Amino acid sequence: MSTYRVGIIGCGSIAQLHMHGYAGDDRFEVVALSDPVAEALNVFGDRYEIANRYTDAREMLDQEALDVVNVCTWHKLHAPMTIAACARKPKAVLCEKPMATNMGECDEMMTVAHRNKVKLAIAHQRRFNPVWTDARNLIAAGAIGAPKHVMTSGSQGLLNDCSHLLDFTRYVMGDPNAVWVLGNIERKTDRYERDMRIEDRSAGIVGYDNGAVGVLLQEMVPQRRQGGTVYGEDGIMDIDEQRVRLLNSRTGTWEERPHTGEDASIGQARELADWIEGRVEHRGEASHGRAAVEIIMAIYESARMHEVVQMPVRTRISPIDVMVEMGDLPVERPGRYDIRAFLLRGEQMRPEGS
Ligand SMILES: NC(=O)c1ccc[n+]([C@@H]2O[C@H](COP(=O)([O-])OP(=O)(O)OC[C@H]3O[C@@H](n4cnc5c(N)ncnc54)[C@H](O)[C@@H]3O)[C@@H](O)[C@H]2O)c1
Repeated sequence: MSTYRVGIIGCGSIAQLHMHGYAGDDRFEVVALSDPVAEALNVFGDRYEIANRYTDAREMLDQEALDVVNVCTWHKLHAPMTIAACARKPKAVLCEKPMATNMGECDEMMTVAHRNKVKLAIAHQRRFNPVWTDARNLIAAGAIGAPKHVMTSGSQGLLNDCSHLLDFTRYVMGDPNAVWVLGNIERKTDRYERDMRIEDRSAGIVGYDNGAVGVLLQEMVPQRRQGGTVYGEDGIMDIDEQRVRLLNSRTGTWEERPHTGEDASIGQARELADWIEGRVEHRGEASHGRAAVEIIMAIYESARMHEVVQMPVRTRISPIDVMVEMGDLPVERPGRYDIRAFLLRGEQMRPEGS
């Protein structure tokens, strides 16, 4: 059996979840780490007993002949690190969500992966949560009839939390494509998340090519969770990370279908190895990560242009940045703040430009 040499770029909190995933499949061995913050690198390296440590990710990529590169940095580095990794031709790159910060970056990542024959997946790991897969299979089998509306609500900006919710909406419905998007945002404070400009509040309405309409509310209602409610022609399904609740004419009352115990991170890693070996397509294949970012950019573009955006989105940079930089979203309460400032470890992680 092959063993795949894995290198991790970014030794922070999410990298620990990936370590757990690789530990669940003995086809992987994590052999090298990179992080410019020596403390992060060494605490992580000591904990998992990984000796090969680099403060420069490109040096790791050049030295280690990696089969798999796992990008676990903040969003702004997803594209440059994925591109740097793909240029060294590993078998696969698993990059954290959101795939990137705009459509230009997403497309560069797809191009470089394709040209170097690298399998690129984005870590929307809840695609491997058995509850979400149960919901997807039930919907495909007609348990609620044709899906008509999907309600989701999140927080922390569209790119962070809400990229998972858009991925949820597509995943449970069998990955339909978005056709049109109407959205709006409010940004009265200079709000950032992991060094990315975000809005204070937002709402998006998304029309899909299966005829369903998805609604995403960000910081609009108190209930925020990973999951949502799908209303079909013949029933309703309420889904979170622990259980599906199903109501249709057969059940008569709510039927609760609990989590069956499979670990999403291990499932994500296992399917990566199976994908490398040509057995399956990875369900986190990059086009799905790209689709979530595209809907987010469409919500921003709809706010910028005051129109229903017909897909595909043709603006390559992020419309929220355009709006802020053009003075279209003046803040009423000045002073930049980052809702993830608690992740800062020291001077080396100061956000650019601050
Ligand atoms: N899939 C999920 O459910 C999930 C959950 C949490 C975070 N994430 C994603 O993971 C990413 C990282 O978030 P986090 O919470 O782990 O952040 P973190 O701050 O805990 O970790 C990021 C690490 O990257 C390091 N880093 C910075 N520049 C680097 C460089 N040039 N080369 C190598 N390493 C570098 C930092 O020093 C830090 O140790 C984010 O994009 C976030 O959206 C996903």
